[in-house]
Formats: sequence, structure tokens, C-alpha cells
Amino acid sequence: MPKATAAAVNAHLTSWATRGVDGHFVGGTPWATIEDTCVTPASLAIVGAAHAHEVVYMNSLTVNLHLMMAAFYRPTAGRHTILIEDHAFPSDAYAVASQVALAGYDPATAIVRLRPRVGEAALRDGDVVDAIATHGPTLALVLLPGVQYYTGQVLPMAAVAAAARAAGVPLGLDLAHAVGNVPLALHAWGVDWAVWCTYKYLNGGPGAVAGLFLHDRHAGVPGASLPCGGGGGDGGGGGDSPPHPDRRSPASAAGGATSGRAALPWARPLPPRSARPAFNSPTRPCWRSPPSPPPSASCTRRAACPSLPPRPPASPPMPRRCCCRRRGWRAASPC
Ligand SMILES: Cc1ncc(COP(=O)(O)O)c(C=O)c1O
Repeated sequence: MPKATAAAVNAHLTSWATRGVDGHFVGGTPWATIEDTCVTPASLAIVGAAHAHEVVYMNSLTVNLHLMMAAFYRPTAGRHTILIEDHAFPSDAYAVASQVALAGYDPATAIVRLRPRVGEAALRDGDVVDAIATHGPTLALVLLPGVQYYTGQVLPMAAVAAAARAAGVPLGLDLAHAVGNVPLALHAWGVDWAVWCTYKYLNGGPGAVAGLFLHDRHAGVPGASLPCGGGGGDGGGGGDSPPHPDRRSPASAAGGATSGRAALPWARPLPPRSARPAFNSPTRPCWRSPPSPPPSASCTRRAACPSLPPRPPASPPMPRRCCCRRRGWRAASPC
């Protein structure tokens, strides 16, 4: 744990204890504008961001992954596949499969997995780049790690970003094992977006908020389609406070729209809901990410889906307890 952590956390606890809700607006680090001070030059440098508004700390890695895929995965009939690495981190694989299914496509066919050559443990750099070019016309998203969690392989991120740009497909990176571990230059490489957790090489503790990078070229164009809301609408401030001037998008700083933070050149509206298969329609096959084989029967209920494990039995009810100041905690009988 960094030496300054305890004092920093205690300062917030003291502010909470002594100021209550006013801690949002006064004190050394008012919470309403904490986003403006916690994204330090060091935290920008560690991912190679060029602007403060390219990085935000919030949520968990997986939540941020879902948010970014909701914004960047805009499939069409001819272009709806996602390229990921084989043996992707399990929660990434589930997140990708669920986004594909939510958009009405079949994860069994709409996810392309990059595998090392037979007899080899790691991907060859050239094979990764070639795969993006080969599958490019049908790809709606490339999602790859900076450092593969299972093999420790550092992927050629600059070359991957260039290949994705050449193919006209957005690139997202999972940097869980890369940030704080290997040099990163996300802005210079032109990576569209990246997500990372802070509890590995950044020494964050349990529950530490995750990070998100969104390249400046997606910032601030009105009518954009990134989900927004929560703290401050326009990426600044929080609550009812106005956005911090340094973190306002250029468009909103110029008086443009304040809803939406990204303009995606490839962003297409999803087809109307009526044109998409309903998520739980009887005709929609159950899906589950590999290696489980997809069940043959169509089903909508867990009980009917043979590939899902049975639910664990409900835990037994807690015994009733009561508190007695003199005798401590006792089960069941009243004090
Ligand atoms: C490569 C990778 N991706 C995603 C995750 C999931 O992160 P979280 O559960 O914090 O969302 C992890 C967690 O260890 C990881 O190592």
C-alpha cells in the first residue's frame, strides 16, 4: 500500500464525520470536484494520455468495459463481429458475449477468437495485425489486452491500433495487466478506448475504482452516443456542480450539447427493436461462452437450458439474534 494512503483515506473519513454532506463542497478535496484533482499528470502519463479529459476513474473494469462496448459496438448485418483473443479473461468473454447477444447476434458466430499457431503458446505479432486486416470488413470491434493475463504476452499495441484504424474498426484495450507494468502511449498510438483496474500494478486496494481512457478525437461532438449521466453530465464536477472548465468537452465549452461525450465516426444507430430478435424470445438459442457447447434446443428459462449449472441451494436463514449491551450478542432468546 502506498505510504500516503492511510492519511488520505483518513482525511476523507474525517471530512465525512465532521462535515457530512458539506464535504461535497468544502475541505481539502471536495468530493463534487474530486475528479478534477484525482486525475493527476502521473495518472495520465501512466497510460500515455495527452489530455486530462481522456482519462476518468470510475466503476470497475467490467462495468467500464460494458459502457464502452455499449457506445462503440454498433453492429450491422454485414459488420457485427468482435475480435478478441482466445483465452480472454473470463469476465471479458462474458461481457463480449452478452453485448453481442443484446444486439441480437449469436455469440457463437459473432465472436472471432485469435489463437496462437498450433504448438505455440503466444500469438505472433504479425498474426494479430494480419487477423485485423483479414477480418476487418466484418469486424465491428476489436477488443484485445495490452498484456495477456494468462501468458503474460505484451501485445504490439501500436501496430494493433494502426491496423484497426486502417480497417476502420474501433479498438478497445483491456489494460488490467499492462497499466503500471509496461509503457503505454494510448493517445499517440490512436487507441480508441481502454479500460483497466487499479488493484494490480497500481497497488489499489479492494474496491479501488477502475480507469477508462477515451481518445480525444471522440470527445465533445454534439449528438454523440456514449452513455452519460451520474456525477456531472459533462465529465466534470459531479452532482449539481458545473463541469470543471478543464474537463469540459470542446463542444460543450463552446456552448454545444452537454449530453454525450463522444462522436464515433462509425456510430450507427441500432436497428429498431422490432427488427432485432427479442433477448429472451423462444426462437433465440441459449448461449454461453465457450468451452461449453451451445445447447441445441431453444429455451428461455434457466431450467430448460442444459448448459447452465443448477442454481446453488439457498443459504439457510440467519438465526435471530439480539443485542444485549451487558451480555453481548446472543442467539434467538430475547434479552
Ligand atoms: C485481464 C482482466 N480483465 C478483466 C478483469 C476483471 O476486472 P473487474 O472484476 O475488476 O471488473 C480482470 C481482473 O482480474 C483481469 O485480470
